[in-house]
Amino acid sequence: MVFARLGADTARPQCLKSAIASIDGLLMHPAAAPRASDESLDPKAMREPLPNAWYCVGRTASVAGEKMRAVALNGEQVVLGRGRDGALFALRDRCPHRGMALSKGKFDGDTLMCPFHGWRFSTDGRCRDVPTLSSHDASDFSRIAVQRFPIRESAGFLWVNPHLGPSDPAAVPEVPELGFTPAGSLVVELEVEASFDLTTLSLVDPGHVAFVHDSWWFRPSKELREKVKTFQPVPHGFVMTSHATTKSSPVYRLLGGVPEVEIEFRLPGVRLERIAAGEKRVANYTFATPLSANRTMLTNALYWSMPALNLLKPLARPLMRQFLTQDQQVLQHAQAGLDRKPTMVLLGQGDLPSQWYFRLKREVLEAAREGRPFENPLTRQELRWRS
Ligand code: FES
Ligand SMILES: [Fe+2]
Repeated sequence: MVFARLGADTARPQCLKSAIASIDGLLMHPAAAPRASDESLDPKAMREPLPNAWYCVGRTASVAGEKMRAVALNGEQVVLGRGRDGALFALRDRCPHRGMALSKGKFDGDTLMCPFHGWRFSTDGRCRDVPTLSSHDASDFSRIAVQRFPIRESAGFLWVNPHLGPSDPAAVPEVPELGFTPAGSLVVELEVEASFDLTTLSLVDPGHVAFVHDSWWFRPSKELREKVKTFQPVPHGFVMTSHATTKSSPVYRLLGGVPEVEIEFRLPGVRLERIAAGEKRVANYTFATPLSANRTMLTNALYWSMPALNLLKPLARPLMRQFLTQDQQVLQHAQAGLDRKPTMVLLGQGDLPSQWYFRLKREVLEAAREGRPFENPLTRQELRWRS
């Protein structure tokens, strides 16, 4: 079985060297070095964020009226907005004439005007006017266009897929949805100077929690305890199945009753924690967005169904920011270490979810390259670790 091979037998190694020797393939490049059998998969592709995927590019409320917003996405500059008809648009933030950022220009609800020479573009990217042309000029601008990207909204956020070219929608991981109507929500966004992969691994890494997130309000006990959790595959990811967590954190206790928790990871970098206690619902969603090669945006959104929790919002915001800052700081220092030597060791069952991330990513890339449907390579498994 795949998971057994991947490290179920790696507990308590005598020393790191023998552990690495005994678990062939676990000494890995951050991009998961390619297996000998598949030289045809470009190793560079494994090191980069998935090109054909939806990424969170900010809150839905951040574009309204004639306001445009410039965002970085996987090395691309994108301008976002919402037309008078309510339809969202995402265009490459670059005027074809001289490369000017269109986001610096004006938007009247129908067309974007470049501030350099006044060329106008409709929200589908097509050039509609070049005001400097004289009626005697025969130049044709009707075939000039700005690259347009698909954009969607879900769970209060905007999602853009930076992929160019045709693609099968079934091959692309679904954008996260919220299964209830929230009475309130709280969003914190933090930029991390670290690669997308390293940042995304922190979303599936149970081992860091006890050491990085050791605030009294999150982890009152400093002791490491043995954990046993069951994981199973879901489309483009895996989920840690529901379980009672009264002892885990005082935050859960706020809900009253015995909450059930389910934590899903989904490509490209989405962690969905859903908590249910009777009719009450709380969701804590975290999204990683690649801005550039070594800059990643971490977005954390907490939603709740109980109006009474709105009163706690001013208190919760600094705590959530503190939590995210803990990840930010440690990731930035780790990135500096990986920059000096880009290898990592994935060891023990606590590191299996990190391996699964690379396996899922590899399968998406291989399926796309071979023109076949994605097949989740994971199977149900129980993992044990201490945290
Ligand atoms: S650069 Fe945009 S109109 Fe000239
Ligand atoms: Fe973390």
